[in-house]
This record gives sequence, structure tokens and C-alpha cells, in this order.
Amino acid sequence: MKKILVTGGAGYIGSCTVIELHKAGYTPVIVDNFSNSDKSVMARLEKVLGFSPKLYAIDCNDKEKLDAVFELENDIAGVIHFAAHKAVGESVQKPNMYYYNNVNSLLVLLDVMQKHGVKNIVFSSSCTVYGQPDALPVTEETPEKTAESPYGFTKQICERILKDQKQTGQNFFKTVLLRYFNPVGAHESGIIGELPLGVPNNLVPYIALVASGKLPMLTVFGDDYNTPDGSCIRDYIHVCDLALAHIQSLQWLDKAPENACEVFNIGVGKGETVLGCIHTFEKVNGVKVPLKIGARRSGDIEKIYADNQKALQELGWKPKYTLADAMQSVWKWQQFIDEQIHNKKP
Ligand code: NAD
Ligand code: WQD
Repeated sequence: MKKILVTGGAGYIGSCTVIELHKAGYTPVIVDNFSNSDKSVMARLEKVLGFSPKLYAIDCNDKEKLDAVFELENDIAGVIHFAAHKAVGESVQKPNMYYYNNVNSLLVLLDVMQKHGVKNIVFSSSCTVYGQPDALPVTEETPEKTAESPYGFTKQICERILKDQKQTGQNFFKTVLLRYFNPVGAHESGIIGELPLGVPNNLVPYIALVASGKLPMLTVFGDDYNTPDGSCIRDYIHVCDLALAHIQSLQWLDKAPENACEVFNIGVGKGETVLGCIHTFEKVNGVKVPLKIGARRSGDIEKIYADNQKALQELGWKPKYTLADAMQSVWKWQQFIDEQIHNKKP
């Protein structure tokens, strides 16, 4: 069983990927400092997996501690690097916190990997690197725009750092950069999903909190965009499909030549409007989501969706869940956290 180090493995996408890694025959080892996750995820992962995955509760910026993890787990076959701060608005308020955590942790990780002879890395990038593209759908060749936020810039910098290894002519690493579009949904168990600390900024967790009566109303940020119903368009990808893309990336890396460094878009390849998402949620779950139309949110782009052909053809990846599946899973997860987690908190 190949051992894969999963930084940020206690987080939203990381915890779902830990499950898929186990299903695919890998041994996941989690590194997470719980800066944006709840320790309860470990017990819930144990319930789904039937055993408790190994956890190192450390900060990836701590080189000594990360080095000790690689020393103890001496046969790591690859790394999936999820660990990062991800709140766009917060990154505008606290840019250095984002540059330090997101960029520095990658540099530390690369040093430690090289020291221990671990070559393969899958990096969490984002469609945010494209900004508002001139043409849709976006391919991996679509030129990047100036980042709208420090968060977006950290993803561009980290991509550049990984691509620059190739230019040295003596690249030690083999790299996959996955540009996620908008991850949504929860694991089918209903006990693993996104657990936002505080009021969420993202659409789907917000919809679920309004539906459960925890928040009074959803504000749709603008209905005067140039889209069929006037609200923004995004490419919503089920988190379990996204998790599988990491497994396929690891398999791709095993066969890839030395020096490989490839970017893949991970989205369903189809856009949906904000109002369309809300209606799907209401329809599949039989609940109402009270909403009002508000002003446009500063920095929002009008529409984006992926050309995912490269991932389909080269990784052999194919998303299988629909937006309706994702919305159903989110509602099941919301009911679980309302009963089991929020009610137990002091
Ligand atoms: P998340 O916040 O749920 O998970 C990230 C995890 O990393 C958290 O458990 C957090 O505690 C941990 N972490 C952060 N900094 C750390 C550090 N220095 N050391 C150790 N652990 C640390 O986020 P997510 O939604 O699962 O996102 C995972 C990755 O995917 C991130 O890199 C994010 O930028 C990227 N991404 C997310 C989205 C999205 O919408 N969720 C979209 C595109 C890209
Ligand atoms: C989706 C749509 C909002 C909340 C962000 C990051 C991006 C990536 C994915 C990490 C937009 C609208 C939202 C609400 C609304 N993350 N909305 N009311 O902005 O596409 O992308 O997450 O890399 O970098 O920027 O996602 O879920 O915030 O918004 O109307 O209360 O929902 O305006 O059109 P976004 P989101």
C-alpha cells in the first residue's frame, strides 16, 4: 500500500480525498494544523474508513516538524498539498498571512520532499488564476489575468514555483497542478463535508445554512449580469469527483517522465447560474431558500466554466455526479452538522 502524505487532509477537500485514497489502495497520512478544520473530522473519518488514519497535527511551515514526519514515515510515495488559507476576502485584509502560509509552506514542503527523495506532488490550484477570461470555456492554455486578490496571487505564485523547477534543467520533482473550479457537495456517508468556521462566504454552504434556518436569508449578489437569468455562472464540481482526480493524478505521475509538470482543469465543463443552483437545491430537497437580490459583490467575475478535455483524456478522469446529487448531499450533511456538531458545541 503506497503511502501518500496529505497536507490539509482534515479540511473539506482533503478529508474526502483521504477516503478515496484508502478506497484506491493507498495509505493516507494526514498533516494538518486545524487552522480551518475541526478535530471531530478524525472520528468521522474513522467511522467511514473503519480505522483512524495517521495524523500529524503540525504546521507545514515548521520545517523541523515536517522533516520529522518524513523521517518517521520513511516510505512516502507522494504528497497531495491541500494545506493553505483559502478565504478570498480575508486575504485582502491579511495579505501577508496568505503569502506566508500558502507560499512559504510550499517552499518548506519542497525542501523536505527533496531531502527525503520524494518526487511526486499534486498541488491544489484554482480557477481563480484565470480571472475573468476573454473566451469560454477556459482551457489550461487560457492566459492568466492579474490576480484579483492576494489569495489568487498565492496560487499563481505557487504554480510558478512548481513550473520553475522544470526550467532548472535538473528538476527533481514530478508535478500535477489541479485547477479546481467550484467544489461543492459532501461525501455520501453524510458525515464528511465542508464545515465552515463562522459565516461562510461561499454560495453552497450559505444556501444550506439558510435552508436549515440558521441564517435568515440568502443575498444573490447581482441579477444584472449578461447571463440567462442575470446571476453569475460558475462550474460546480462535486467534491468526491474532485477527490478522485487526485487519485488519477497520482497514477498519472507514476507513469509520467522525469521532469513532468502538467496543469489540469477540474470542473464539470458546464456552467450554472447562482439562481439555478438555488432552484436545484430547493427542488431536490423539497425546502425553501428565502432570498433577496442584492448588489454585485466586488471582485466577482461574471462567468467561468472549464474545458476539462485534458483531464478526461490524459488523467482518465470523468465526473459522475450531477449538481442535483451535490445539492442532495449538502442537505444531508447540513442536517448531520446541525444535529451532531452545532448542537453539541458549548
Ligand atoms: P480547507 O480550509 O477546508 O482545508 C485546508 C486544510 O489545511 C485545513 O484543514 C487547514 O486546517 C489546513 N491548513 C492550512 N494551513 C496549514 C498549514 N500551514 N499547515 C497545516 N495545515 C494547514 O480548504 P479546502 O476547501 O479543502 O481547500 C483545499 C485546497 O484547495 C486549498 O489549497 C485551497 O486553496 C484549494 N482550493 C479550494 C477551493 C474551494 O473552493 N474549496 C477551490 C480551489 C482551490
Ligand atoms: C459563487 C457565486 C457569488 C455567496 C471562490 C473563490 C475561488 C475558488 C472558489 C478557491 C458567485 C454568488 C455567493 C452568496 C451569492 N476558491 N454568491 N451569494 O466566488 O466563484 O469562487 O471559491 O480557490 O478562488 O473566489 O465562489 O461560492 O463565493 O460564489 O450570490 O451569499 O455565488 O457572487 O457568483 P466564487 P462563491
